[in-house]
Amino acid sequence: MTIDHVHVDLAGRSYDIKIGQGLIDNVGTHVAPLLKRKFAAIVTDENVAKAHLKTLEKALKAAGIESKALILPPGEKTKGYQHLAETCDALLGFGVERKDVVIALGGGVIGDLTGFAAAVLRRGVAFIQIPTSLLAQVDSSVGGKTGINSKHGKNLVGAFHQPIMVLADLDVLSTLPKRQRAAGYAEVAKYGLLGNAPFFDWLDNNVEAIMAGDIKATSQAVKISCEMKAKIVAEDETETGARALLNLGHTFGHALEAATGYSDTLLHGEAVSIGMVQAFGFSEMLGHGQQGLNRKVAAHLQRAGLPTHISDIKAKLPDPAALVKLMYQDKKAENGRLTFILAEQIGKSFIAKGVDEAKVLAFLKQDMAKQGLAKP
Ligand SMILES: NC(=O)c1ccc[n+]([C@@H]2O[C@H](COP(=O)([O-])OP(=O)(O)OC[C@H]3O[C@@H](n4cnc5c(N)ncnc54)[C@H](O)[C@@H]3O)[C@@H](O)[C@H]2O)c1
Repeated sequence: MTIDHVHVDLAGRSYDIKIGQGLIDNVGTHVAPLLKRKFAAIVTDENVAKAHLKTLEKALKAAGIESKALILPPGEKTKGYQHLAETCDALLGFGVERKDVVIALGGGVIGDLTGFAAAVLRRGVAFIQIPTSLLAQVDSSVGGKTGINSKHGKNLVGAFHQPIMVLADLDVLSTLPKRQRAAGYAEVAKYGLLGNAPFFDWLDNNVEAIMAGDIKATSQAVKISCEMKAKIVAEDETETGARALLNLGHTFGHALEAATGYSDTLLHGEAVSIGMVQAFGFSEMLGHGQQGLNRKVAAHLQRAGLPTHISDIKAKLPDPAALVKLMYQDKKAENGRLTFILAEQIGKSFIAKGVDEAKVLAFLKQDMAKQGLAKP
């Protein structure tokens, strides 16, 4: 199978995303030209280590590259101060020098944490992303947003630090649990919904194949998602404008994640799935979107096995007013006002700043009442 290349064009910080099979087996070919000495430090988590670390270490060794690995516990809780400190100290303990390269082998948690550790270690060392979840391959490994969570909210402490290469090896997805694959699929569908109607149509014909692990369909989905993200990031690296569109579904979604304690009760991609359906519903209520698009979006996401409504969450949720409060920790809030990504149609989204809180509350009350979760 050929390797697809997607270029992220950021002047001195440009890099390639390579997408294909067997990339880890042949990692030396890709990584060696970027190393100043034949050494690489790896950060991963226990699940990924069990399935893929040996293969990576063996392939590095075959290319004459020595490596040392830190294995962290899996899950969102790892993305915090404690494991940031552990990662920095482990990397220093491994003897990582200013010109060395750190490899993040894992999902978005490992990528975000390792990228941030690399950004601050010795005031900045280079890092390579080897994303192992579908979500990480189509979203979190690209674009240089790194960071950890604080008790005040998600991703609130971090830095922009671009990787020097991304290796999206499609083979690793075979060990990814189905629920995680679906969570990643929500971010794939997001690209179609926010700005690429033909891609959404294509997904509508291929969602089952992607979920079943069909390599050709998955490879195409990862490639188009990365192309869209690369284009948006190249235009607006630090999110002063259009990059915010990538947050379709996230203002609603983040509030739901916060309400469920950033736990396995609701994965990030699942929250985004529900949030996107809400964003389309809210757009319709404000008179922007065409009627019934939220139902079309929900029907599509359900085919990937995703939750699409608040009532799908198996936990007691706060009332609509408390959910609105949680939205104010969203990074897009400005001068105490909420920002939403709304949609006029599938493939046509826009940024709505200063959205009236009363309207958000009215929408949530109506949405939750329809599902028997709040008084109308
Ligand atoms: N930086 C960004 O731009 C950006 C964008 C979107 C999301 N994120 C962040 O990404 C994180 C979510 O990422 P995620 O969904 O990858 O979560 P994750 O890193 O927790 O991975 C999900 C689970 O799958 C396991 N896993 C990963 N790859 C596997 C494989 N190949 N085989 C078996 N198990 C595997 C992990 O151990 C974990 O248990 C969140 O913290 C979110 O905030 C960041």
